[in-house]
Amino acid sequence: MKPLIVANWKCNPQTLKGAKLLFNSIKRGMKKIRNVEVVICPPFVYLLTSDKRQATKIKLGGQNCFWKGKGPFTGEVSPKQLLNFGCKYVILGHSERRIYFDETDEMINKKIKAAISVKLNPIFCIGETKEEREKGQTQSILKSQIEKGLKKVSKKEIEKITIAYEPAWAIGTGKPCDTEEAQKMSLLIRKMMARKYSLSIAKKLRMIYGGSVNSKNARDYIKEADFQGLLIGGASLDPKEFIKIVKTISA
Ligand code: PGA
Repeated sequence: MKPLIVANWKCNPQTLKGAKLLFNSIKRGMKKIRNVEVVICPPFVYLLTSDKRQATKIKLGGQNCFWKGKGPFTGEVSPKQLLNFGCKYVILGHSERRIYFDETDEMINKKIKAAISVKLNPIFCIGETKEEREKGQTQSILKSQIEKGLKKVSKKEIEKITIAYEPAWAIGTGKPCDTEEAQKMSLLIRKMMARKYSLSIAKKLRMIYGGSVNSKNARDYIKEADFQGLLIGGASLDPKEFIKIVKTISA
């Protein structure tokens, strides 16, 4: 399986021109890169700009979706709409959505199931906050996020899911989780998945790390901490740095 590098642009850039520039710079930088799967998750309004026809090797993803297929849900975007716009993936349960928009594990579970039902691959984010970590609650938080977020997700469906371990305290802070701790967490999550599903499912599971990734630390998460990819926020807005990360992973 190729490593998966996901660019989460969040609420950036501010103009269509900026989005096109960023997308095209990344596209150019990707020309000779083969053995890495790169996914860009722009704000919804820029999805067509980075349309799959021009995107070639770069895949697209949404940063969120709703659990209902259609109807009177002002401001929401359905999984099918994302699929129709050329998305292959959707980020669900990001800590910023849990924190700022009060997304619960139950809501995230409905979104995961809705995405899978139209063959959109969820990137399911889990991770503890700074307070939870300081109180020693990391393990129980992760367990509960997994249990509730993946409630009634079958063994077959789980194959479509990538788990993103993103400690909220490492996101956008410039303080990444160190490799040793990251490795412990990947082992812990795999153990939880083995208990919930099976050992072979847990072994095959694609797990990515996110939180202050840059071109200096990127490779360590993959080579030393048993992650199969990265979820990148800030550094994905700087095309040079982002391509540098992709190159260090493909090397
Ligand atoms: P960051 O964000 O790389 O800016 O820390 C990661 C994320 O939120 O997915």
